[in-house]
Amino acid sequence: MAGLNEIRSKFLEFFRAEDHEVVASGPLVPNNDPTLLFTNAGMVPFKNVFTGQEKRPYVRAASSQKCVRAGGKHNDLDNVGYTVRHHTFFEMLGNFSFGDYYKAEAIEFAWQLITKEFALPESRLMVTIYEDDDEAHGLWKKISGLSDDKIVRLGAKSNFWQMGDTGPCGPNSEIFYDHGDKIPGGPPGSPDEDGDRFIEIWNLVFMQYEQHEDGSRTGLPKPSIDTGMGLERIAAVLQGTHDNYATDLMRALIVASAEASKSDPDGPHAVSHRVIADHLRSSSFLLADGVMPSNEGRGYVLRRIMRRAMRHAQLVGVAEPLMWRLVPALVRQMGDAYPELRRAEPLVTETLKLEETRFRETLTRGLKLLDEEIEKQQGKGVLPGDVAFKLYDTYGFPLDLTQDALRSRGMSVDQTGFDTAMAKQRQDARAAWSGSGEKATEAVWFELREKNGATEFLGYETETAEGKIVAIIVDGQPVEEITAGTGAAIIANQTPFYAESGGQVGDSGVLFTPAGAEFPVADTAKKLGDMHVHIGTLARGTLKVGDIVEMKVDSALRTATRANHSATHLVHEALRRVLGPHVTQKGSMVGPERLRFDFSHPKPMTADEIAEVETIVNRVIRQNAEVSTRLMTPEQAIEAGALALFGEKYGAEVRVLAMGLDENNDNGIYSVELCGGTHVRRVGDIAIFKIVSEGAVASGIRRIEALTGEGARRYLIEQERIAKEAAGALKISPEDLPARVVSLMEERKRLERELSDVKKKLAMGGGSGGPSLDAPVQEIGGVKLVARKLDGVNPKDLRGLVDDAKKQIGSGVVAFVTVSEDGKGAVATGVTADLTSRFNAVELVKAAAAAMGGAGGGGRPDMAQAGGPDGAKAEAALDAVRAAVGELAGAA
Ligand code: ALA
Repeated sequence: MAGLNEIRSKFLEFFRAEDHEVVASGPLVPNNDPTLLFTNAGMVPFKNVFTGQEKRPYVRAASSQKCVRAGGKHNDLDNVGYTVRHHTFFEMLGNFSFGDYYKAEAIEFAWQLITKEFALPESRLMVTIYEDDDEAHGLWKKISGLSDDKIVRLGAKSNFWQMGDTGPCGPNSEIFYDHGDKIPGGPPGSPDEDGDRFIEIWNLVFMQYEQHEDGSRTGLPKPSIDTGMGLERIAAVLQGTHDNYATDLMRALIVASAEASKSDPDGPHAVSHRVIADHLRSSSFLLADGVMPSNEGRGYVLRRIMRRAMRHAQLVGVAEPLMWRLVPALVRQMGDAYPELRRAEPLVTETLKLEETRFRETLTRGLKLLDEEIEKQQGKGVLPGDVAFKLYDTYGFPLDLTQDALRSRGMSVDQTGFDTAMAKQRQDARAAWSGSGEKATEAVWFELREKNGATEFLGYETETAEGKIVAIIVDGQPVEEITAGTGAAIIANQTPFYAESGGQVGDSGVLFTPAGAEFPVADTAKKLGDMHVHIGTLARGTLKVGDIVEMKVDSALRTATRANHSATHLVHEALRRVLGPHVTQKGSMVGPERLRFDFSHPKPMTADEIAEVETIVNRVIRQNAEVSTRLMTPEQAIEAGALALFGEKYGAEVRVLAMGLDENNDNGIYSVELCGGTHVRRVGDIAIFKIVSEGAVASGIRRIEALTGEGARRYLIEQERIAKEAAGALKISPEDLPARVVSLMEERKRLERELSDVKKKLAMGGGSGGPSLDAPVQEIGGVKLVARKLDGVNPKDLRGLVDDAKKQIGSGVVAFVTVSEDGKGAVATGVTADLTSRFNAVELVKAAAAAMGGAGGGGRPDMAQAGGPDGAKAEAALDAVRAAVGELAGAA
């Protein structure tokens, strides 16, 4: 009996031998289709290859694709556990032809594989075809030799396959296996076809068309083939059972669940073990592909799946969280085929444990409430909607969990009542919001949030994705369509664009369509906490609500921003180590160019402290350790040593970023912080860290500005260039610059001193032997007078010269005039202390200034200064002083 892993390999090897490229499974979150919740068929990763949008180096492929059907068009969640062949997670084996072979070969391959390779008896097989597909009918007859009654024609409902509301599609042909008359059920097309006797094992889709949003259908570039065989079903057939849950892999998980809960795998809790086994697979694979439990979008579907399993774990009666203990069994079964599962094992384990621990806290209380209510409704069969809503709102019971709990008692939920209660809560929230003081113009965002829900952010995982436009806003009003040149804000159902928050700037980039629209995104803003709004101006084409757009973040800018953001975490910790634990973050701004980090510290950092912080940060960068992101409760985050905690709502998860290694820390980690931003994968991606400024922003708050990566490299190169240029000018090497600058400064001071001495000498008309007053000293009426015009002397030096001259003559009057380059005259006068009763320097200077066309003059009786526009009258000014002194001296 072949095991499931073996069957998978056989299938892939069969097609490899037929020139098919064996392609690894794509992720569960499709990165090429925003209308799909999860990858739900093997063809999803090839969707654009079928439509011709994307080219691959091969035209035949085969894969074993991870699929989740738990929401959207193909949703099996509610049936899981109660039937033998529904799963939320399953593997789809498929072979594909992209315009290469078509119906004949597809049927030939299928028949060969199942009747030869898998050796299924032909007597157990039958097929269905699309009602008017005579070609398929002829091919089946020829290739398989099946009789006409085993080739059943059916309508589009069962024999026309399409991926979703849009996408590639075409008529199909399904192969059925008859498990024999001991199992109830009829052949396809019969009234009791839903029984488990005749099971579809393989679907061959003859892809011909592409279904469009507006309902129209166009032809694919070339007819193609897409097939899908559920691995669990074919394994059941090959292992001689009609129950997928009895196959080796599922059984191993069921047994693990039973063992861990010390119960009988086939006893009264058989349904619960099946639910747990199935949901363990979907939860773990979704987590491994980057989906995290949340209250929106994919994360909410994951949470519903997890909680449904956790409720069943509780039904089985285990006292402690169960799911996380089953992860090793799952990895043993599937880790070889899907290495991503093995890589994500710690994350999967931790997240399951966290979710179950938290959910258990409310589960018991919620179930008690449910029991009481069921009691009250005795016999009515319907649980009031407001009770279901209370369970949802207060206890975190997704509606389907409540429905599941009621199912065993033959009850259902009043769905209308539930919807009404939900609508009322939104109404109340809105009323509360409108009183909150935000601008009324913001009302538009509230309406959009209600209508479309939150934007799903994909940007932690990817920088490109497709999104479906859910709203376009122009001048504060929603519009249906925009044309080139229009400035607008665009909201999509999902986006890789980070919206400004937590100090990190919003992403820029571009949105475009294959039809030629191009919307450069200048900025991305966040509205009402979780709507990402792309702001820009449509450069080309038209865009309308409902369009699918390619969304491409400017990767270079994002990469630089990531490095800067991660560096703020490292610098935060380094500051605490260097300056002390009083350092706390007071704000930050992280963009692609630089980072700014504000923190509490009472005094400027010294150069040594700055250097030490740089050294620590760069040392951690060179460890090149992987950066880890986890979801935790705020309490756990504190326990893990997280630095900052904000006012998180009760029950909210926080993202915890751990960076760098430190063996002296208990947890071995250098920095642990809560953060919603985008970060480097490894600390080494930051490359270099350089502080470029440190200063005060407010009392007790300092600000550091710093660069990383390429920005830091350029900065350092520029610094080097400057040093080299300066050294070049001095014809020395840069190392000698500091000493040379000091000696140049000293030399300059000395020269300045000498120059000033020389000027003074010149002013006094002296020669080499020191100041001499011989020539310029006059005597008027017994009073010594020095009155001179000094050339090339700066006006502001006049007073000093007057002082010097006063000292030299001991007793007398001094007047110096100088003419500046622009032709203006300046004059300073001085009177020695013994003569101030007879001469007033202010009066003298006024007389001199007047001679040069000036008015006024200021100073004290012993020293005054003034100026006049007409420097050419310098001699006249001196004459005026001489005359005034002569007059006063004579008068004495
Ligand atoms: N895409 C086809 C299916 O999922 C094969 O059934």
